[in-house]
Amino acid sequence: MENAEKINVGKAEILKEGVPFKTKVGKHPVIVVKWNGGLFAYKDYCPHEFETLATGYVEDGRIVCKAHGYCFEMDSGNCVKGDNALKLTRFEVTVENGDLMVSRSPL
Ligand code: FES
Repeated sequence: MENAEKINVGKAEILKEGVPFKTKVGKHPVIVVKWNGGLFAYKDYCPHEFETLATGYVEDGRIVCKAHGYCFEMDSGNCVKGDNALKLTRFEVTVENGDLMVSRSPL
């Protein structure tokens, strides 16, 4: 089910702890990550050199980009290892009737 503000990207049960799930919101690649009781969604590109984050992983509450090892805080999206001026674009993600619903607009 879709509405103007949110896109259904699949069942919440497909998420594995700390493993990015690659999907799309409209035409835009997005990753969704379940970690430590929370859900997080980001544009699927690393702001360093625009590699995918879908091959990355979560470590100590940070998303690690495999390309060059930059790390981004889950909550803020701020780069905490690499170039501190960089930041991930985050979207709200909720579960509605078992479905992952990702907002079209960034937080
Ligand atoms: S592209 Fe992600 S760390 Fe370089």
